[in-house]
Amino acid sequence: MKKIILPLLSLALLTACGGSETSSSPEKKTAEAPKDPAYQNGLELVAKSDCLTCHKINDPFTGPSYAAVAEKYAGADAAKITDLAHKIIKGGMGVWGSAMMTPHPMISQEDAEAMVKYILLLKK
Ligand code: HEC
Repeated sequence: MKKIILPLLSLALLTACGGSETSSSPEKKTAEAPKDPAYQNGLELVAKSDCLTCHKINDPFTGPSYAAVAEKYAGADAAKITDLAHKIIKGGMGVWGSAMMTPHPMISQEDAEAMVKYILLLKK
């Protein structure tokens, strides 16, 4: 199963990267994303949780698209990553609109930070 999923994912990502370049932070290039260990780790955690019932990678859904989140927090430092991980655990609203992200108290801070790192690598 993994053997099939991995090439498909890298393909999807390559295609996603081929689009328009609207980079606002030139020092952080994400073309290497699939090779980053944080990417794989975060991807698995996100896939195991309920995140994708509200988030899509490229399109807004109940929550903002992960590409939009990555765009907004491009170049986020460790403190911001900690913050966003808190938000995943505690839930919340108001940054993107009036829809609410449900709390995820079962997710550890460490795992939530891994998810954030993965999401931030999804910048187009
Ligand atoms: C019930 C729907 C729902 C689920 C499930 C959900 N989210 Fe969200 N998420 C949202 C909404 C809505 C927002 C926008 C919140 C806001 O406007 O402050 C959001 C925002 C976010 C943000 C940006 C936060 C910010 O302050 O900008 C991140 C990162 C995120 N979600 C990650 C995740 C991860 C990782 C998971 C899985 C563990 C997850 N979400 C599960 C609905 C959801």
